[in-house]
Amino acid sequence: MSLGWPGNASGSPRKSWTKWLGRGKSGLPCLGCCPRNPTPDKRKKTDGQHDGYVSLHTPLSVHKLESGSWVMSLTGKVALVTGGAQGIGRAVVESLLRSSVKVAVVDLNQEVGCECKVQLDTEYGEGNCTFIQCDITDGDTLKDAFQTTVDQFGQLDIVVNNAGINNEKDWEKTIQVNLTSVIKGTYLALDHMSKEHGKRGGVVINVSSMAAFLHSPHQPVYTATKHGVIGFTRAIADASSLADYGVRINVLCPAFVDTPLLHSVENEANMGKFVKFKDDFKHSMNKFGVLKPPQIAEGMMRMIMDSSLNGAVMKITCSKGIHFHTYEPLSA
Ligand SMILES: NC(=O)c1ccc[n+]([C@@H]2O[C@H](COP(=O)([O-])OP(=O)(O)OC[C@H]3O[C@@H](n4cnc5c(N)ncnc54)[C@H](O)[C@@H]3O)[C@@H](O)[C@H]2O)c1
Repeated sequence: MSLGWPGNASGSPRKSWTKWLGRGKSGLPCLGCCPRNPTPDKRKKTDGQHDGYVSLHTPLSVHKLESGSWVMSLTGKVALVTGGAQGIGRAVVESLLRSSVKVAVVDLNQEVGCECKVQLDTEYGEGNCTFIQCDITDGDTLKDAFQTTVDQFGQLDIVVNNAGINNEKDWEKTIQVNLTSVIKGTYLALDHMSKEHGKRGGVVINVSSMAAFLHSPHQPVYTATKHGVIGFTRAIADASSLADYGVRINVLCPAFVDTPLLHSVENEANMGKFVKFKDDFKHSMNKFGVLKPPQIAEGMMRMIMDSSLNGAVMKITCSKGIHFHTYEPLSA
């Protein structure tokens, strides 16, 4: 578990960032896709500024590396990943399984979910993961999925609210899946993990997108939902810190990633009248490059394990690799 990434419990700047990335699974300094090396995180704290990190040690077992970083031990932990049957979620599930975490794969797609479970059992051994078919927009079903996970594995420590869709035609559904369900998933995670409810803490990662920063003209509602995920996550992370929930809550914003969702921008059934901008979208993909799901999982694992991170907004792009968004200090 000794990943040895830079950073420490007080959120000081990462000094050996390139060195850490160099040990990534891609074996390349910039996630294997970048034209240049990643920019080291040069953020500095000013008085009273929330720089995206809040030191919040959960009651879960953590250990300190020689570098001063606090790392959450994953041994014996249990995770729930929504949208875990394919794409980014599947890559995250595999990274967790490789770290000896038991995982509940929660997904709408029964066929892909069952295939995924068979493959994961073969690769990582039976009894380490379960597939729960669930439409996360159905509150009762999502609640049951959380309870089933706890019933099966005895606890819950890590929740990744990852499932998302890209549908401008049925834009209300997009809000339900990408934003409302992420909020519900976070609240259910707190029900099962918060010290407020007598539980032992944990970590939640909500998946947003670089679309939250780039204002995609072909995805207005998708963009809105991803903005919403960041705003909600930062606010609830502060609540967790102030109320001592013992749960770290962070948000991950990938750029373009090679998954089925990315290809849905070509379909009128998904994009409605905005499909006419698909060439513009492809131009952006060519310009900014396309990441692979394991590269997103690498950032995800860091957010899960680095016990100094709460309210952090991680961005993963081809040009800068894994880095963090910074915010202006609050002013009235
Ligand atoms: N692919 C990209 O370029 C990209 C970039 C940035 C952010 N993201 C975000 O990453 C997340 C994962 O996307 P992906 O690219 O892996 O997509 P994907 O389509 O490959 O996988 C999404 C998974 O979510 C599941 N899902 C969809 N609706 C669901 C529902 N109502 N209930 C339960 N499960 C449901 C799907 O069945 C699928 O298995 C999404 O939140 C997406 O917005 C993707």
